[in-house]
Amino acid sequence: MKKKIALITGITGQDGSILAKFLLKKNYEVHGIKRRSSSFNTQRIDDIYNDLHEPNPKLFLHYGDLTDFSSIINVIKKVKPTEIYNLAAQSHVQVSFETPEYTANADAIGTLRILEAIRILNLKKSIKFYQASTSEMYGTTPPPQDENSPMKPASPYGAAKLYAHWITKNYRTSYKMFASTGILFNHEGPSRGETFVSRKITMGIANILKKKQKYLYLGNLDAFRDWGDARDYVKAMWKILQYKKPDDFVIATGKSYSVRKFVEISFSLVGIKISWKGKGLKEIGYDKKTNRTYIRIDSKYFRPQEVDHLRGSFKKAKKTLDWKPQIKFEEMIKDMLDKDLKN
Ligand code: NAP
Ligand code: GDD
Repeated sequence: MKKKIALITGITGQDGSILAKFLLKKNYEVHGIKRRSSSFNTQRIDDIYNDLHEPNPKLFLHYGDLTDFSSIINVIKKVKPTEIYNLAAQSHVQVSFETPEYTANADAIGTLRILEAIRILNLKKSIKFYQASTSEMYGTTPPPQDENSPMKPASPYGAAKLYAHWITKNYRTSYKMFASTGILFNHEGPSRGETFVSRKITMGIANILKKKQKYLYLGNLDAFRDWGDARDYVKAMWKILQYKKPDDFVIATGKSYSVRKFVEISFSLVGIKISWKGKGLKEIGYDKKTNRTYIRIDSKYFRPQEVDHLRGSFKKAKKTLDWKPQIKFEEMIKDMLDKDLKN
């Protein structure tokens, strides 16, 4: 059987690190691209990274950056992967309003650079390519969103990802590449970046209980998201590349909750019932029994444009890939809280 070699861009991120572990268990040789940074940025994969001097290493890291074509083409030429998972991105929606040009360079043109490298190196017959597309591309399109829903992105991040999505489809059609996309809705877990709202809430609760933080400051509480668990979602990425032909798949849970509900459930898991009073920037979340305020609103967390409601239909993935989410919403929050309370 041909050796399976995966190259993961964004291996140091939430999904990249979980996917690396998943593929190592499946006996893949795994290569990852990491950026040079002035302090360690490999915490999420330290537990699987062995000293290369030990016998039989299975995980290899290479320096590179999606904004630097020479590093991309050199790594692909050297590794000759059988599968590439393009997970690297400036992935924070709010930050994309402050760094729109960089976000386009990394998220949109970065994807083009990989596709071009595969084409120029004449490796299109031997490499399957996965693009990390996102529900953020739907923007203002109301739910439920599926593979055929109109895409109306509402942020520089969403617009950059939409370019990456379409250029992937274009290379599939034009050059007959095995180039697939997973349109993944929000997915979280204990290794979620600390500035995404889910992790900000669970870390905030842990810090408040340990008296390291007084309030949790949030922005728009009334946006709805379809939140799944990252462990389920990396399985879907792999299944997408094992499917007989390249295609596009929505990966979601089909259920959505507001940020407000996320807050209420998270606090209830540590025995605190949150009630709300006040309006707009003056709204607070508090415990009626003790009159203690826990949540306050800060205007700096509101975005110039908001995506109001994401809820995906994963019917196609269920039918063609036999994929469905396994981990329940509350179980996921509980895992995140457990980790943050332990740390
Ligand atoms: P993440 O935790 O923010 O990880 C992003 C990864 O990309 C990190 O390894 C980061 O490196 C790397 N990266 C950023 N800019 C780069 C550049 N210019 N060159 C090379 N690497 C770069 O994101 P995630 O949650 O794992 O998401 C993975 C992918 O799925 C992203 O493309 C994201 O946009 C997409 N997505 C995520 C979700 C979700 O809910 N999580 C949903 C849909 C789509 P550092 O560690 O050095 O920062
Ligand atoms: N980050 C953050 N911080 N978001 C807040 C806050 C806050 O203090 N308060 C309210 N929110 C709201 C945001 O306005 C948004 O409506 C919602 O919480 C979720 O925000 P994030 O957790 O930052 O995620 P996102 O939906 O913008 O983007 C994530 O999901 C996309 C898929 O739909 C990211 O992982 C993207 O990379 C991914 O593509």
